Amino acid sequence: MNTEFHRIRRLPPYVFAEVNAMKAAARAAGADIIDFGMGNPDLPTPPHIVEKLVETVQDPRTHRYSNSRGIPGLRKALAGYYQKRFGVTLDPETEAIVTIGSKEGLANLAQAITGPGDMILVPNPSYPIHQFGFIIADGTVRYLPVEPDDEFLDALERAVLHSQPKPVALVLCYPSNPTALTADLEFYAKVVDFCRAQDIIILSDLAYSEIYFDGVPPPSILQIPAPRMWLSNSPRSARPIPCPAGALASRPAIPG
Ligand SMILES: Cc1ncc(COP(=O)(O)O)c(C=O)c1O
Repeated sequence: MNTEFHRIRRLPPYVFAEVNAMKAAARAAGADIIDFGMGNPDLPTPPHIVEKLVETVQDPRTHRYSNSRGIPGLRKALAGYYQKRFGVTLDPETEAIVTIGSKEGLANLAQAITGPGDMILVPNPSYPIHQFGFIIADGTVRYLPVEPDDEFLDALERAVLHSQPKPVALVLCYPSNPTALTADLEFYAKVVDFCRAQDIIILSDLAYSEIYFDGVPPPSILQIPAPRMWLSNSPRSARPIPCPAGALASRPAIPG
């Protein structure tokens, strides 16, 4: 039986599986391990969220399939969050869809926008799905530095100059997993300017929008007015991990 599958063969090692195996081996050998591996929340989910989940699951009307775009109330809530948190107005009908987590959103988005050999620019190191989804979709990945500074912008320019055909999309993730680096609006504005001129889609994963220090909330790239970008967002601090919830918000230039 063929066990060498084309798409699986192209994937780099999955860092979480590798770390888990090393951890298990070290524990089995008696080592005392402090786990800095996969970022599971170490605080309980706020009680009002758990109560609402329990209440909701007891209603048989919720035991059915949902709308594929997400129920209107949830899309409106997403738009409300963007308005309140970032001052960004989104049309819940055309600029927001609900996904089963950021991973599902990014993986399906990768399938939608990537053709065989299409190039995607991804900072290194990155959260694995930022490259895996595109590799599975038969794309190729070119790495950029992860620090949001002039060197990043130079590398971005070089990557576009030296790629034929031009990259289709750029993945950003600030606050960054695994580096915790953050980006400001000035950086986002420069990236948007460049990608707009080059017709490159920006995918900005804002999974950690609500985890920040020194009272400075991270901005959203959607605060920069531009027609062609996507944002995937599912504030990790606001939900229990086993409950998949995510959202994609976009400007209308790309249909949701
Ligand atoms: C940057 C980043 N994006 C996305 C995810 C996955 O989010 P979800 O559980 O919504 O699929 C994680 C999970 O660790 C993450 O760190």
